[in-house]
Amino acid sequence: RNTLGLPARAAVAVLEDESAIPALCEALAAGRKGRDGVAPMFVLGGGSNLVMLERPRHRVLRVALRGIRLRDETADHWIVEAAAGESWHGFVDHCLSRGWPGLENLALIPGTVGAAPVQNIGAYGLELDQRLHSVVAWDLRAGRAHDLRPSECGFAYRDSLFKRDGAGRWLIVRVRFALPKAWTPRLDYPDLRDHPGLRAERGASVSGRPASASSAAPSPRQVFDAVCDIRRRKLPDPAVLGNAGSFFKNPVIDAGQAEGLKQRFPDLRTYPQADGRVKLAAGWLIERAGWKGRRLGPVGMHERQALVLVNHGGAQAADVLALARAVRADVRERFGVDLEQEPVVLD
Ligand code: EPU
Repeated sequence: RNTLGLPARAAVAVLEDESAIPALCEALAAGRKGRDGVAPMFVLGGGSNLVMLERPRHRVLRVALRGIRLRDETADHWIVEAAAGESWHGFVDHCLSRGWPGLENLALIPGTVGAAPVQNIGAYGLELDQRLHSVVAWDLRAGRAHDLRPSECGFAYRDSLFKRDGAGRWLIVRVRFALPKAWTPRLDYPDLRDHPGLRAERGASVSGRPASASSAAPSPRQVFDAVCDIRRRKLPDPAVLGNAGSFFKNPVIDAGQAEGLKQRFPDLRTYPQADGRVKLAAGWLIERAGWKGRRLGPVGMHERQALVLVNHGGAQAADVLALARAVRADVRERFGVDLEQEPVVLD
C-alpha cells in the first residue's frame, strides 16, 4: 500500500460507499471523547506520497470509492466528476478516450483522484487547480460534507488546505474538473516542448507547406504519450524500484539570496515567481551536493533524477528519514537553502 515499498503493519478500514461516512464520523467523535469509538484515522489514497512508519499509531482509512461520469456541460467546458478511489492515471486516460481533454500533462502521476487535490499535483506546466471545478469533501471532525470551490481549497505549489490540516481531518470523496471544449496544448515546459514526438507535429506547419490546424498542433493524445514517454525515461517505476516521486519540494527563496547564489554558481537553475521570489530546482542542488546516484544503506537518490529517493530493497522508514536528513544537511551547508520534505509521514 505504499510505493516506497516500506514494511508496515496497521489497522486498515476500507471505504467503498459514501453512505458509511456519517457513522464513521460518529465513531470518530466518540473516540475523541474517550468513549467506545475509534482512534484517529489517516486517510490513504494510493500511498504514493507517503513514508509509512513500521507500526503507525493511526488507523488507516483506505478510500476505495469508484466511478467516473460526465456531470454537466457549459458552453465552454465539460464538467467531469470522478470518485476519490479511482486511479489518477486511469482517469486521465479515460477522459481522453471520451473526448474530454485538458489533463494530459498530468499523465502517469501515481496515486488516486482523491489524493490529487491534497498536494495540488502538478507536472509539465500544469497544476491541478487550473482544471479543478470543485471538491466534495467531508470534514471528519465536524461530521459535515462540503462542496468546495478551488478558491476555498487554499491551493499553493504542492500544497492545499487538505494537506495543511493533516491527513485525518478531510476525507475527499469526489473531485470535479472543468475541461475545456476549445482545447489548446500546454507546451511551455522545455522537456515537453522539445519532445521529438511533438516537434515532428509542429514541424509540419513550418516546413513551407500550408498546414491545416490539425496537422500544426499536436492532439491531446500525442501530448499524453509524450508526457508518459518523458516520465518513463526519467522517473523510476515504483513497481520496479520503490519511490515516492520527488522527495523534496523545489525551494522558493528571496530574489536577493538567489542573486548571491547565482554569482557563486552561474549554472544554478532559477525560475522567477509571480511574487518576485525565485524557485530553485531541488534536483540540481542535490546533484551538486554529490547525492545523485549515491546510496546510504538500502536507500539512495536516483541516478537519473536526484530529487527522487529510491528503496533499493529492504529499507524501513528510518533508513528513508536518515537519508533525507543527510541530504537536507548537505544542501543547507553548501547552498544555505532548506529543503522541505514532500511526502507525508504516516506515524
Ligand atoms: N536537475 C538536475 N539534476 C537532477 C534533476 C534535476 O540538475 O538530477 C535540474 C535540471 O536542470 C532540470 C531541472 O532540475 O532542468 C528540473 O528538473 P525536472 O524537469 O526533472 O523537474 P523537477 O523540478 O525536478 C518537478 C516536479 C515533478 C514533475 C516535474 C515536471 C516537484 C517537487 N517535482 O520536478 O513532480 O514531474 O517537475 O513538471 O515540483 C513528483 O512530484 O513526484 C514529481 C515527479
